[in-house]
Amino acid sequence: MPLFDVYPLYNVTPVSGKDILVYDDEGTEYLDLYGGHAVISIGHAHPNYVDAITNQVNTLGFYSNAIQNPLQKQLADKLEALSGCKDYELFLCNSGAEANENALKLASFKTGKKRVVAFSKGFHGRTSAAVAATDNKNIIAPINAQQAVTILPLNDVEGVKAELEKGDVCAVIVEFIQGIGGLDQGTVEFFEQVDKLCKANNTMFIADEIQCGYGRSGKFFAFQHYNVTPDIISMAKGMGNGFPIGGILIHPDIEAKYGMLGTTFGGNHLACAAGLAVLNTIEEENLIENTNIISEYFVEKAKTIPQIKNIKGRGLMLGLEFDFEVGDLRKKLIYDEHIFTGGAANKKLLRILPPLTIKKEHVDQFFETLKKVLEEIQETV
Ligand SMILES: Cc1ncc(COP(=O)(O)O)c(C=O)c1O
Repeated sequence: MPLFDVYPLYNVTPVSGKDILVYDDEGTEYLDLYGGHAVISIGHAHPNYVDAITNQVNTLGFYSNAIQNPLQKQLADKLEALSGCKDYELFLCNSGAEANENALKLASFKTGKKRVVAFSKGFHGRTSAAVAATDNKNIIAPINAQQAVTILPLNDVEGVKAELEKGDVCAVIVEFIQGIGGLDQGTVEFFEQVDKLCKANNTMFIADEIQCGYGRSGKFFAFQHYNVTPDIISMAKGMGNGFPIGGILIHPDIEAKYGMLGTTFGGNHLACAAGLAVLNTIEEENLIENTNIISEYFVEKAKTIPQIKNIKGRGLMLGLEFDFEVGDLRKKLIYDEHIFTGGAANKKLLRILPPLTIKKEHVDQFFETLKKVLEEIQETV
């Protein structure tokens, strides 16, 4: 049976991984500066992670959400301690789109309203309301287009004010660092004004931290670089280091009612074991501190490369902008030099999303290779 062909694939078959390295089916070693799309937070096959999942599956892999599962509370407590998000409540699900779907649904339940404000080049997932709030017409089917969504330019404070004052907006959803859109960030003034406008207009402020959260920005959540208090924070990717887990943190102003949200798989024993191993490792190995140290080192090195015209993003969610499209550069890096990097909607941007365990020697290896490849590309022009 053929696979439904929705992904353009690189012809590489990784079969194993160790920390920041992955190995293909021919034993070739790759440096992973893509982290399986910002998912690998604590490194491939981290022993804490392998042990936690192995022990859990040997004991109890799954039961339903109709019974007590103390692992969920352990995860919630650890998340509160590490993120500093005191007083929020946790709802667990399985993916990023699902997290945003639940966040938008809660915002609508809470406010009784249904229109959403989202931003240009934003991405929030591929399901019903999440995809409608995504600025990409190609992935919005007619069934999704019935959702009431207004897309505004990032930093358009006046636009947000005008929309919220109409009184029908349940949520403003924003990535504090845009992912696939190309690493753009709103200004401090923008984020802080949007926070205030939401509070003044009974609109829920949703921080989509699915990609930029879990330490990747250099703080636990990217919104913590600003003086804002989101009503709902959505998480996934780095949360499980590859094990499918997502979740939302919900401000206590939003009151839970039985049946309001629900899921079969969300918060299952295996997912919680994976999630706990990730948080314990972030703490034990000071991975947020490492993110800041390596980020600074990376940016300094990037500044010495004349072909790099702009450095975007924060922490270990960085974009290197060139004055040419980087498709061929990425191919050369993967096939000839065995380094994974990411792309973005902005075709001139190379995205860097490594595991947060990355060390200076990997950054050195990347820049030595990049210089060489850029010279080769120049010679062929
Ligand atoms: C910011 C953001 N939100 C939501 C999603 C959707 O997550 P998932 O693919 O797990 O549904 C993504 C995935 O790339 C993302 O980057």
